[in-house]
Amino acid sequence: MNSFIVKGLVLAGVLIVATLVVIKQMHIDLSDPVNLITFLGAVAIAVLTFGVGAKYMAQMKTDTAGGELAEENWDGIGEYKNELPAGWAWSYVGTMIWAIWYFLWGYPLNAYSQIGEYNQEVKNYNKKFEEIHKNASPEVLKDMGESIFLVQCAPCHGETGDGLSGKAQDFTSRFTKEQVLAVIKNGQHQLKFPLGAMPAGLAQGKDAEAVAEYVANGLKGDAPAAWGTCAGCHGQDGKGNGGSAPDLAGYDLPLVQHVLANGKTGIIGHMPAFPGRFTPVQEKALAAYLSTLKQ
Ligand code: HEC
Ligand code: HEC
Repeated sequence: MNSFIVKGLVLAGVLIVATLVVIKQMHIDLSDPVNLITFLGAVAIAVLTFGVGAKYMAQMKTDTAGGELAEENWDGIGEYKNELPAGWAWSYVGTMIWAIWYFLWGYPLNAYSQIGEYNQEVKNYNKKFEEIHKNASPEVLKDMGESIFLVQCAPCHGETGDGLSGKAQDFTSRFTKEQVLAVIKNGQHQLKFPLGAMPAGLAQGKDAEAVAEYVANGLKGDAPAAWGTCAGCHGQDGKGNGGSAPDLAGYDLPLVQHVLANGKTGIIGHMPAFPGRFTPVQEKALAAYLSTLKQ
């Protein structure tokens, strides 16, 4: 027998003896069939690994390459036209099948994850929450809105919603004249209302002044002539034509939803978006609360 194979089998023997020593020390009972089968499996693996490894190492010493050489060679290094060994080809196909299984059903997508469990629990809880409050009364919504507001919005808008002296939108009114003039001058396209962009320069000079004053005064009294242009999109009453454009008179639900989803940058400053932060009922609650702040 080749000396490599002898050495391989000796190594396997050493491994088996070592396994037996451990088995003895751990008081594992080999008359138990499961233990016995496990042990025999280990013996088989040791013999096969070392036996096969030794066989190929011996073969590498004596084997020479053979077959038909391909035409091209690189600095004398050529390539035989031998068939790809079937074992390799099948292993390659096998790894691809395994990779697809692993990705779609295996560990990464199906694994337990703490974040996944948390997200699932939040989802279930929100579903219950929506169910319980789907017909909440205006008072409940207002209270709920107030508690959300105090945590999430008050740091910028102030506990009373007055905007902390110009740091953020003052909810005790809707617009200042300067805010409206700035939008008329620059146009606006950030809240993603169905009507899209409001073009810049829809009113000029005295018309712009008059219409801005009218909006800043809460659309009270007689509308100036230029209001006709604005009413086309914002509605005669300025309430946004059922959610097509922003409500200029108050803080209605579509306005609050669009501002929370997209954030808002204006002459006061920047408000970050809160995408996906609130459930529909919570958005309703925030709008209900904001509309109680306006005088
Ligand atoms: C073509 C339709 C259209 C016309 C006409 C129009 N607007 Fe607008 N307006 C919009 C839309 C849409 C928005 C929301 C833009 C966005 O996505 O940010 C808007 C936004 C505004 C805003 C800011 C609202 C907010 O909450 O940020 C003000 C103020 C405003 N318009 C006032 C006016 C005035 C005053 C006029 C008349 C001179 C006018 N608009 C004419 C469509 C219009
Ligand atoms: C990081 C500070 C900040 C936080 C937090 C914040 N806002 Fe704002 N918000 C602003 C600023 C600044 C503006 C004014 C933007 C402008 O028009 O210049 C604003 C404007 C608004 C407007 C008026 C938008 C318009 O078109 O007229 C609404 C409505 C609003 N915020 C609602 C909320 C609600 C509801 C919350 C809590 C969920 C909230 N904000 C949290 C800074 C903030």
